[in-house]
Amino acid sequence: MSAPDLTAALERIPGWFWPADQRLFEWFLSDEGASGDVLELGTYLGKSAVLIGDHVRRGETFTVCDLFESDAPDADNDAETTRSYSSLTRRRFEQNYLGVHDTLPEVVHGPTSVILDHVEAGTCRFVHVDASHLYTHVKDDVVAARTVLKEGGVVAFDDYRSEHTPGVALAVWEAVAGLGLEPICVSSQKLYGMWGDPAPVRERLLEWLATRPDLWHTTDVLGERHLVRVNQRKKPKPAQPQSELDRLTAELRRTTAELKKVTTESQHAVQALKKATKEVSVLGPVAHRAAGWLRRRATPAK
Ligand SMILES: C[S@@+](CC[C@H](N)C(=O)[O-])C[C@H]1O[C@@H](n2cnc3c(N)ncnc32)[C@H](O)[C@@H]1O
Repeated sequence: MSAPDLTAALERIPGWFWPADQRLFEWFLSDEGASGDVLELGTYLGKSAVLIGDHVRRGETFTVCDLFESDAPDADNDAETTRSYSSLTRRRFEQNYLGVHDTLPEVVHGPTSVILDHVEAGTCRFVHVDASHLYTHVKDDVVAARTVLKEGGVVAFDDYRSEHTPGVALAVWEAVAGLGLEPICVSSQKLYGMWGDPAPVRERLLEWLATRPDLWHTTDVLGERHLVRVNQRKKPKPAQPQSELDRLTAELRRTTAELKKVTTESQHAVQALKKATKEVSVLGPVAHRAAGWLRRRATPAK
């Protein structure tokens, strides 16, 4: 599918998958050197799945896993899904996906805790973890991702730093601190990492980012590590033709600024004048007496 068509299709699907992450997914998924299956945990209405599906190659399997309209495995997870995804059904996901692609991915309709029954260990080149935000679930999703990834495979964790998703943050940074997850880069929404040396991927990522005028990036220090931070650049506002009102407002602003400047200057002049007058009024009597004295000295005594 052409890039503009895919962008238009993505815009029609509700979800939380922003342009910087769309570009990063495209980059990671286009890696010619990597082959293997692709997995998404938490697919909702298919916004990220539709883009991922565009990069699945012949012979590769794309699997998505979601509860859809089914009950969650525990009360907290149930509260989370009822609150945030009440309109979700598997049928709506499938309709959205088939609006863009000819065939559906493999669908695991159930909790992410069963994913290892469906996806073999060491088979995936890319995993997107975007299901429950609760620590007890995300920590298991981390382990599942590590299990299914091939050597050099990449995992993207959504919501690794939002204030309403502390469980994701805890599980992800715990994996960095203790489970060997190596972060490659972050966006405001997602953390991308791998199990293995991230340096070569990071170098290639930086080379690519240098060619992207739409993406801003920098590199932060994270202890011994370096972490690339990527964001969408703000588009400059297109120049608007100036209305008469805009022109008059701008002129009024300029005149007001000019008036303020003149007022300040005249206030300074008045103050200087006041000071000079004061000095004259202090010196006046002294000068008067000095002149009298000089006059008396100059006048010969009778
Ligand atoms: C944030 S949404 C996914 C958004 C989607 N990736 C996108 O970019 O539009 C989270 C999804 O995870 C699903 N989910 C929540 N808890 C789950 C669990 N324990 N197992 C499987 N799916 C779960 C929800 O039903 C919801 O569809």
